[in-house]
Amino acid sequence: MRVYIEDIAKYDGQAVTIKGWLYNRRSSGKLHFLQIRDGSGFIQAVMSKAAVGDEVFTTADHLSQESAVIVHGLVKADARSKTGFELEATGLEVVSESHDFPITPKEHGVDFLMDRRHLWIRSQRQQSILRVRHEVIDAVRDYFNSRGFILADAPVFTPAACEGTTTLFPVQYFEENTAYLTQSGQLYNEANAMALGRTYCFGPTFRAEKSKTRRHLTEFWMVEPEVAYADLNDVIELAQGLVVSVIARVLDTRQRELAVLERDTTKLAAVKTPFARITYDEAVKILADKGLPFTWGGDFGSPDETALSEHFNGPVCVTGYPSEIKAFYFKPKDGRPEVSESVDVLAPEGYGEIIGGGQRLEDYDLLLKRIEEHKLPREAFEWYLDLRRFGSVPHGGFGMGIERVVSWICGLEHLREAIPYPRMLYRLTP
Ligand code: 4AD
Ligand code: MG
Repeated sequence: MRVYIEDIAKYDGQAVTIKGWLYNRRSSGKLHFLQIRDGSGFIQAVMSKAAVGDEVFTTADHLSQESAVIVHGLVKADARSKTGFELEATGLEVVSESHDFPITPKEHGVDFLMDRRHLWIRSQRQQSILRVRHEVIDAVRDYFNSRGFILADAPVFTPAACEGTTTLFPVQYFEENTAYLTQSGQLYNEANAMALGRTYCFGPTFRAEKSKTRRHLTEFWMVEPEVAYADLNDVIELAQGLVVSVIARVLDTRQRELAVLERDTTKLAAVKTPFARITYDEAVKILADKGLPFTWGGDFGSPDETALSEHFNGPVCVTGYPSEIKAFYFKPKDGRPEVSESVDVLAPEGYGEIIGGGQRLEDYDLLLKRIEEHKLPREAFEWYLDLRRFGSVPHGGFGMGIERVVSWICGLEHLREAIPYPRMLYRLTP
């Protein structure tokens, strides 16, 4: 019976077939120890000449890494094995051989691996990250779906900027037009929220970020909820609930992967609501106390965010960023318009901003003024202004970057490992 390695515990003592690839192998003369992977997990098949006969035993002795194989065997509980089980091989079929697989168990440089990303993802570590990513995405969808949110996706080709004109990717759109790859689905989300009440979009977003930091990709996945009749406080509650529920899910279902990644899960388990909440003003004081050169009005860089999250030893919500450094759509604070009704959620352990959002500007005249101040093409925003013409209400939402969250949960050094095929300033292949 063909089974997947992840289900192996159900077949203790039974004869099974595993279809996969040879990950690694060693021999002691009398026995071959074959590490088999099938995409769902890894298992050791122990092969003796007595069990399989001369021919198969000799074939196995010459098999090289990543050869496609079908292994028949008996499932045996084994306390020494990481998975708790081993396979006592009774047969082996070679489906296709692999020679000189470039990624060997030795250490390789990151560029070498990135150039071979399509093969690198076969490694145990990379598979574990991709499994955690899958779980994060699934948990995100469950969180919104179970709370009455309707998924309504935003277009990828857009006519104008959402997050500032400096990071737009232009695309030739037939003969006459230029389209831009979306930076965020938010503006469409706002329209959707006025139609559906609670909505979210979830897709790839693009930023022509010329920065070469560990935290920036040019293409990343973002989930963006938007809620009608919501204020900044509602947005914060929704955001921290999401983070906690995503972490709880990964801790619940992906311990095996987190162990492969050697992640200290106690730090994740300690993440509880409510998160620490500070204003931008307070953040500036904290940075000054720590001796960081930061003045009111600036945007936090990585070292600032790291210092803030370390100060609280957990996620922290920073509210009230200067309106100047935020996008045109933020609601200015009543009585203090130089400050916006915005929030960023900073992850602990130096992972920085994982969520950005806030309350939107619902007033028609002020919004128009902001569009003009930001020198945005008014025609492209007429439809967006309609939302303020026809039954405008207070509303808000946020965007959470999936790779930032995966990177934090997995304890990665760099966002490039948190997505199957990263796109960065100097990386467009494979
Ligand atoms: O803070 P940002 O730019 O917010 C927006 O785009 C809003 N329109 C979202 C909304 O309110 N609906 O981006 C949101 C999140 C960041 O907190 C970060 O997690 C992620 O998206 N992000 C990036 N992730 C990887 N690479 C980049 N270049 C990113 N830029 C933003
Ligand atoms: Mg942001």
